[in-house]
This record gives sequence, structure tokens and C-alpha cells, in this order.
Amino acid sequence: MRAEQRRRRALGRALAAPGNRTSADVRDWWREAVCYQVYLRSFADGNGDGVGDLTGLYQRLPYLAGLGVDALWINPWFPSPMVDGGYDVSDYRAIDPAFGTLSDALAMIEEIHALGLRILIDIVPNHTSSQHPWFHEALAGGPDCVERDRYIFRPGTGPKGDAPPNNWRSVFGGSAWTRIVEPDGRAGSWYLHLFAPEQPDLNWDSCLVRREFESILRFWFDLGVDGIRIDVAHAMIKAPGLPDLGPSDIELIASAAHPGHPHWDREGVHEIFRGWRAVADSYPEPRVFVAEACVGASERLARYVRPGELHTAFNFDYLTAPWRADTLRIAIDSSLSAMAAVGAPAIWALSNHDVLRHLTRYGRPQSDGPVHTLANHSPDGPVDLALGTRRAQTAALLMLALPGCAYLYQGEELGLWEVEDLPDETLQDPTWERSGHTDRGRDGCRLPMPWSGDAPPFGFSPDHAQKVPWLPQPPQWKQLTVQAQTGDEQSMLELYRRALRIRRVHPALGDGSLAWDTTAVPDVLSFTRPPGFQCVVNLGQGAARLPDHREVLLSSVPLEDGLLPGDSAVWLAR
Ligand code: BGC
Repeated sequence: MRAEQRRRRALGRALAAPGNRTSADVRDWWREAVCYQVYLRSFADGNGDGVGDLTGLYQRLPYLAGLGVDALWINPWFPSPMVDGGYDVSDYRAIDPAFGTLSDALAMIEEIHALGLRILIDIVPNHTSSQHPWFHEALAGGPDCVERDRYIFRPGTGPKGDAPPNNWRSVFGGSAWTRIVEPDGRAGSWYLHLFAPEQPDLNWDSCLVRREFESILRFWFDLGVDGIRIDVAHAMIKAPGLPDLGPSDIELIASAAHPGHPHWDREGVHEIFRGWRAVADSYPEPRVFVAEACVGASERLARYVRPGELHTAFNFDYLTAPWRADTLRIAIDSSLSAMAAVGAPAIWALSNHDVLRHLTRYGRPQSDGPVHTLANHSPDGPVDLALGTRRAQTAALLMLALPGCAYLYQGEELGLWEVEDLPDETLQDPTWERSGHTDRGRDGCRLPMPWSGDAPPFGFSPDHAQKVPWLPQPPQWKQLTVQAQTGDEQSMLELYRRALRIRRVHPALGDGSLAWDTTAVPDVLSFTRPPGFQCVVNLGQGAARLPDHREVLLSSVPLEDGLLPGDSAVWLAR
């Protein structure tokens, strides 16, 4: 173990060599980090039970450091009944036994820092698990107990109280209310759950809830965690009186593009986040937040990252933009200008654990409007995987050249696609059951990583594994393992490695600004970044001419007679 640790530290030092900016050296690392999202259950299985864990991740940290990312965001790792992949938390100060122990987590944090990386974890403040002790106490205490004030309990409507308190809908399908049985056996009041019934919403009007979460933040910050992703940050405050949704609100169930919505993007969330910022700022080294706030317009999103509030927020307009030069440019411009107005960096991502993998989205005919990123809205028809792969390579170079931070979702660097034909009996996302088997949910983007070998589990689990992986991998992923792609200069993985290496040393990349090249033709996105950098992305069919340049730093596919082929991108030194 000692020798292994020494080897890892040496890798950390090598990555920190002069000329290599690492996040460890830079105080404002969070303004320009490339952050790798680790979906722990599917990253690497260290103990052979078919589920990814901290031991598996620890063993693969050198892979991540070598890839060239700056930080890791780890999806919820807390004890959880796993009704919603860990977003149903029963204890916010411990680690789920399937993933490891708190001391494994501490060793992990130390090792991540030793490698020059940062670590962000994922806090779920809108709801707990129904197995959280607080919810047990609320049920056991009876109708008038103070413990119920931590959640949102209401009497039912209708003569017998057997209709829900209002018409709110669960994001996963069905009503957002479930009726409880009181301790004396009678049918009782109803509780709110914007997600699954096993995820009761907390009452953020309660001081106790507020104090508890500030204490949870401190708990993890004290242990060395550098940042926190805030789950459904736009949902925590509900309108007084819990009024019914209007007709337009119902249609917008999973987004919040509608001002005045009774439970999305309410003004009151900002006060909570100002308090959280004060907690973060009480540490000498940066402790940062990234909000998952689905709020429609960039200007609404910018309100979450105003001075004194959160540091960063995901930009979903970019993620849902179709593969078209005009819409991508609008998404980029609106995010950059909205964030610049409040002094925050933009955050770009192409995929995450909730949406169809972008390779698959881009492999289908592109629409004019936002692309549906959920499985139930995915258009029928075959995916052109070769086209999707080519566009995903191009998209990587575009995203990594934009000012601000980029979030990579595990497996995108391997060119993994959405697995849309998982057998019904393997599906685990609550959406599948809650939608009456009409929405296949998000399992298709959550499959275990393929590391090596010719057949599943592709090195995801150790040789002595007792169980098969929790979701089955397609045999075709044989060509996409880390092992298969390493050293293949045409592969997605080597493209990401090269791009991240350049991004780390090039002074133009990361935080900063861009200027569009106004001479570019309509299907081409072209911009410069000082000093001396230009990115050209050809989203058209025909080849495009390149602007004057000193050197080609990197291209997603080989240039053809000095021209940039359709669906490809190039980084130039000017
Ligand atoms: C997470 C989802 C989760 C939901 C409820 C999100 O937006 O990313 O995976 O199901 O919140 O916690």
C-alpha cells in the first residue's frame, strides 16, 4: 500500500509540474475547472458485489488524474434505500455501506487532494428519504406533533379528506401527495413529495431544517470537501397556502420556465443560499457551490450566482440545445452575458446522470427547438452512432474551449451511448414504475463503465466478483473500454486526453472571454480567445476554410487538404 501511495503522490507531483496549472495551485480554480462527474454506483466496483464503490473509485483515481480533469463531483454517497439512486438520503453524515465507510471517504478526500484534484459532493436539501429518522419521528408523533413541521403535511380535501391537498404532480409521475396511516391506524393527513413517495419534501420555512443543513455543510467542509452540488436548488421553497398549479404550470412539470410557479424558482430560495454562502466563506480555502437549478431563462439562473449567493450553476440551455450553429451560439451568448453581469463563470455540460447521453442525442435528426433529453421524449428511429460519435468529438472541443468550467459525465470520454434497449426487468429508475411503464427513465445513461477486456463486466468488477453489475453492459462496448482506446490516436479517449492537456497549459483557456469571428459562414462557429487561440467548429455538411493561423493545436478528425470537414472542430494557435 505504501509503494502504491508513493506512486500516486508522484503522479500528483508530475501533474503539478511547472507549466501545468493544476487546480491545487489556483485559488479561483472553481472559475475554470474541468470537473468529472462520478456516478459512484457505476464507476468501478472494488468488492465484487456488482455495484461501484469507494474502493473502486480509489483504485481508479490515477486514471482520472491522468485524464487531466481538475475536480470530481461524486453523486450522493450517503446511506440511502436507493429508491432514487441515492437521492433519497437517510443520513447526511455517513456513507452508504454499499459504497464503503466514512473512513474510506476520508482516505479518498486525502488522496484526491494529494493528486492535485478537488472534490465536490452532492447534497439533497429538498427532500430526505422516507427512512430518515426525522420522517419516522414525524409519522410516529401523530397529527399535531412538532416533528411534522420539518416536512409538508396537510389534511386532504373532499368530504372525507381522501383527495390530495392540491393538484401538484410528482416529477416521476402521479400525484405529489401520499396519504399516511396515523399511529392509531386511521387514514391521516397527506405529505408532499415532488419526486417519489419515498422522498418527502422538507419544510424550508422551519428554522430547524435550515440549521440542520448548515450544520451538514460544515460537517463535510470540515472534512475537506471543496464543494457541493445542490440538488434541485430551485424547489426548496413553496408558495404560501400551496395553491393549485395553473394549466401552464402543469405542462412545465419538470422545468421552471414559468415565473410565479408555486414550487419552482421561488424568491425565498435566495435567502437560504445567502446563508450557505456565508458558511462557505467562513473557510480560509475556497468552499464552493454548484446549483442544479432548472429555471428556464439565463437571467433567472444568474440570480442564483449573484454576489453573496452561490458560486456557479449548471447551464441547461446549452445541454438541451440541438446540434445547430444558431441555437448553440444563442445558448452560449445568453449564458456568457447573464453570468458576466453578475461576475460568475459559466458552467457547460453535455450530459449527466439524468439525461440521454449526448452522443445518442446528436446521432438523431436535430430539431429547431430544445432537444428532449429524457428517455420518454426521445424520438423514435435508429440512432446513427457513427454520426453521434463524430459530433460528440466535435462537441467536446467546442465545450472545452468555452470560457468557464466544463463538467464531464463519466463515460463521455469513452464515447458511451445511451443504452435504450435495457430489458424491462432490469430497469431501476422510479420513473419506470411511477409512469405505468410508459417512461423508461434514466437507467440507459447510468450503466457501469467499461474498463478493459472483451466481455462484460469489462473490468468494472474484479475477477472474483460474486455478482454481475447492477445494470447489464452491451457487448459492443468491447471497443470502448479504456484499455481498447488507450494509445489509439483516433479514439474519443485520446482526444479528451489531448484536449485536457492543452487546456491545462494554454493561457487562453479556462476562465476569460471570447470574441466571435464575424467572418465565419452560417454553419460555422468560430471564436478567438486571447492570447492567440481560435476554435472553429463546422456544424455543416461541407468542408470549411480555416482562418489564418500559426499552428493546428488539435482537431477532432484529420483536416482534409487544410479544410475542416463537416461535423468537426479544430483548435488553432494564431
Ligand atoms: C437529480 C436526480 C434526482 C432528483 C431528485 C435531481 O435533479 O439529479 O437524479 O432524481 O434530483 O432528487
